[in-house]
Amino acid sequence: MGQRIAIISALHEELAELLALMPDEHQTAVAGRQFWRGRLHGHEVIAVLSGIGKVAAATTTAVLLERFRPQQVIFTGVAGGIGDGVAVGDIVVGSRYLQHDMDASPLFARHELPGYGLSRFPADPALLRLMWQAAEEAIAWLPGRLDAATRAAFGLQAPRVHSGKIVTGDRFVATEAESRALRAELREALAVDMESGAVAQVCHDYSVPFCAVRTISDRADDQAHVDFPAFLQQVARHYSGRMLEVALRLL
Ligand code: ADE
Repeated sequence: MGQRIAIISALHEELAELLALMPDEHQTAVAGRQFWRGRLHGHEVIAVLSGIGKVAAATTTAVLLERFRPQQVIFTGVAGGIGDGVAVGDIVVGSRYLQHDMDASPLFARHELPGYGLSRFPADPALLRLMWQAAEEAIAWLPGRLDAATRAAFGLQAPRVHSGKIVTGDRFVATEAESRALRAELREALAVDMESGAVAQVCHDYSVPFCAVRTISDRADDQAHVDFPAFLQQVARHYSGRMLEVALRLL
């Protein structure tokens, strides 16, 4: 049975391949956001750009859930790798989402979301398994599709899939010192981004299953401002497109 699935990405490069797979899509604008609606593998797909940062992503998600009532929400995009052994070109399937810049201490514990009594949201277990499978398939397929020069430029020799915590904040982490501090504070964090934690919170509020999958575009270090745009332009869309295609086929 077909389902109604929402796909969110932060940037157009991450959504372009999916839109190309849905030639019949049509667009609706709400709150300054463009929602693309189409069909893929028997499912109704609603695709939207979150915008960048937690407020933009939360607003987009609330509008998406209110207006279009998807049964599941998948976020695909890029992130900075901060976990040991999480390299550029690897994929992190988020199992838990935390907002690293949430700090209402000493009133609440560091990172606790006031009113929620918790500091992290889990991914939906079934969606997490599906996206893991999609990531494994995509990563096995991908290196052969990229030319040798691109693979060498980004060191994409044997990319891996990881599952673990994604941390989110309103900051592009672009210094070694900052990523070291995040790693020290949040030991199990694998990747850092600017939206997943906000989307997870809104999906939790509406009891809609959610999972985010992030391809590592940079190591959130002093090189991040160079690695991020290059990866985005040359590599990211292949990952997102393939993962989404596989996920919707398996669903
Ligand atoms: N998205 C991709 N790279 C990132 C970084 N270094 N910090 C935050 N978000 C990112």
